[in-house]
Amino acid sequence: MHGEFITSAKVLIVDDMATNRELAKTALCSAAYQIDEAENGQEALEKIKNNHYDVVLLDVLMPDIDGLDVCKILRQEADFALLPIIMVTSLESPDDVIRGMSAGATDYVQKPYFPAELVSRVNAAVRHKRIIDRLDDIETAFFTLARIIEAKDAHQNGPYDRLAHLSLVFAQNLKLTYQQIDALCRGSILHDIGKLGIPDHILLKSSQLNESEWEIMKQHVIIGEQLCKPFKALQDTVDIIKYHHEAWDGSGYPEGLSGKNIPLLARIFQVVDIYDALSSKRPYKEAFSEETTIKILKEESKKGLRDAKLVKEFIALLKAEPKLFQMPKESITLSKSCELTEKVMKLGISSWYQKIINSS
Ligand SMILES: [Fe+2]
Repeated sequence: MHGEFITSAKVLIVDDMATNRELAKTALCSAAYQIDEAENGQEALEKIKNNHYDVVLLDVLMPDIDGLDVCKILRQEADFALLPIIMVTSLESPDDVIRGMSAGATDYVQKPYFPAELVSRVNAAVRHKRIIDRLDDIETAFFTLARIIEAKDAHQNGPYDRLAHLSLVFAQNLKLTYQQIDALCRGSILHDIGKLGIPDHILLKSSQLNESEWEIMKQHVIIGEQLCKPFKALQDTVDIIKYHHEAWDGSGYPEGLSGKNIPLLARIFQVVDIYDALSSKRPYKEAFSEETTIKILKEESKKGLRDAKLVKEFIALLKAEPKLFQMPKESITLSKSCELTEKVMKLGISSWYQKIINSS
């Protein structure tokens, strides 16, 4: 099992002492890793930016840029947010361990170490990286599919990046957990992914759908659920995909759930989705003013279609913090949205909205 990882794993050893690099190299060469070396922080940063390493072994005490700084610099870049970095040092105090981990190290090995210990830690890091890479591939595939729907269904929906932004703003205000915010942002991009299974003559029909066509269209929530359900990482997102067309009074689909039986994330997403649809320009309508948008939101709530409490909180936030909602409406074209989606795909959505959080 380990051989699968060992033969393909590429490890960078960073240490200013040649003898230390040699020791690590000897330990790891016995496990047939591909080894590269850097003798200072600057060289390490350059090599890491120009190569694809699976693991970096990083000495802490080095002249100029030390290991902690190298780690901090790398963690600021989304491309290296998940790169396994194992700190290797002779520093002994628990504070040093804390400093290393706070700088973003994945693991910590203390000198002198047994070669077998180093090999097993590197193996564990490589295994972890392989899993993350696989998840990234799956996420990228799903986002690509969502983008196809976004492009196809542009007359009805999207751009999804605005939805994700609004979801994030509202979710943060509601003090949701990290996991819930993650699911909500993914749901903003993936909620209509089931439309992949809807025939084009129905999905792209410009006139009103007849009853049987409408029944087929409604299936997109079930198709989306079936597509995403097998993936653990999308477990909470599936609720949004399946239930984003339910209504508070039970008149929605697919199950006619009502009130709090509709999962919370789906109810939150609905408010954001409606706000987005009302306040955006679409091929069939101009963007409504904020006043009109709020009026319609309140009406939907009064009619019993939406979670009144959530609508109230959303409107209160919109009035109190209008800047948070600003995303250039008119200038977001589909190509711009694709550009943003590409960024999201490249970074992985977690890093993407973490960046938004950090910059806000
Ligand atoms: Fe939908």
